[in-house]
Amino acid sequence: MSEMRTQRESRTGKSHLAMTRMATALAGVLAGSLLAAPARAEPTVEVLHYWTSGGESKAAGALRQDFEASGGKWIDAPVAGGGGDAASTVLRSRVLAGDPPNAVQLKGPNIKDWAAQGKLATLDEVAKAENWDAILPPQIRDVVTDKGHYYAVPVNIHRVNWLWVNPQAMKKAGVEIPKTWDEFNAAAEKLKAAGIVPLAHGGQPWQEGALFEDVVLGLGGADFYRKALVELDQTALTSDTMVKVFDQMRKLRGFVDDGFPGREWNIAAGMLMNGQAAMQIMGDWEKGELTAAGKLPGKDFVCAHVPGKSGYIVNSDSFVMFKSDDADRAAGQKLLAKLILGKKFQETFNVLKGSIPARQDMARDSFDECAVKSMDDLKGAIADNSAVPSMAHEMAVPGAVRGAFLDVVTSHFNSGMSSKDAVQRLAEAVDLAK
Ligand code: GAL
Repeated sequence: MSEMRTQRESRTGKSHLAMTRMATALAGVLAGSLLAAPARAEPTVEVLHYWTSGGESKAAGALRQDFEASGGKWIDAPVAGGGGDAASTVLRSRVLAGDPPNAVQLKGPNIKDWAAQGKLATLDEVAKAENWDAILPPQIRDVVTDKGHYYAVPVNIHRVNWLWVNPQAMKKAGVEIPKTWDEFNAAAEKLKAAGIVPLAHGGQPWQEGALFEDVVLGLGGADFYRKALVELDQTALTSDTMVKVFDQMRKLRGFVDDGFPGREWNIAAGMLMNGQAAMQIMGDWEKGELTAAGKLPGKDFVCAHVPGKSGYIVNSDSFVMFKSDDADRAAGQKLLAKLILGKKFQETFNVLKGSIPARQDMARDSFDECAVKSMDDLKGAIADNSAVPSMAHEMAVPGAVRGAFLDVVTSHFNSGMSSKDAVQRLAEAVDLAK
């Protein structure tokens, strides 16, 4: 009996083993077939940007909605701090840690720098399919390409040299919108006497750098601007015109309130909105802030050219895509690049952001009087060669040179430094940095 039992047990054991082996094999086949089935890609991007103010975040939200409506998964990585210096620091640390975001708000020479390090995915496939060569102005195409390859998708064209005015505050002091710096200074004195802050300002290097470049354009004109802030010509940097620029910066220092140090640009915009201040010199992301707060152009605020010689200081935001070998992230990057230069997004986003579209074949009827003025002025500036790249907003020079400008300008603004000393320090600092 026991013999038979033993035989039966061994037979059962063998069939158990066979069953187990078969089950394992079947599971393997199933798993294999599941893995082999083309998993539906879920386009995903982690996006590093610095659009965190009221107007900026509304515009960034429009991009996110567009992306998610197209089936994408958006992982938001905002870094607060106007002008983007804080965001640049976070980007560098993320790349050093081997964990770059998928899509990053970046612009100007930084694009070519990161491309040269082999970190960026090229966007040629999307650019060809969407005909970017035909819809972008050459000035913008040159910024987002390197050696014939697209490394960034441009989102907009911002103008830096705008003067924003609260008409009610100006009326209270009986002053008109100034067209020259002498008129600006005279109006500012009257505003001060009327107890109104003439110039709303945030004391941060990029904001002082933007004031500086506006004065360089206003007093010296586009050719002088290019010589000094783009070509870094020592004669221009040490010229009498540059001394006059710092003289005017000293006057502007006298027209801001005591609370300006460290103030964010959008907080200064609040002073303009509530009439505490009468004017603010800022790029047209300011308009995005004002309209997000329900203010109307021509009624609650007026957009005017910064005093002095005419020109257009260009600042264009783009997104670069850091290389990723993850299929979902790569799919997300392609989808985002396609959407950003699509007509629908170019309208929705730029109306909210205060900028004008990067693509040139757009209808104008959704854009307000300030945006239309910007479109017309840009065309005119390209035609008479008075369109210049913004140094303060990282469009004109490498980061180290921009840093040299900002260091000297902001230390002059926040000290008793003479114009002649500032000019000398500027020429030396720029020469060392380039
Ligand atoms: C600029 C940027 C704009 C705007 C501004 C304030 O550098 O290009 O999009 O947001 O900073 O943060």
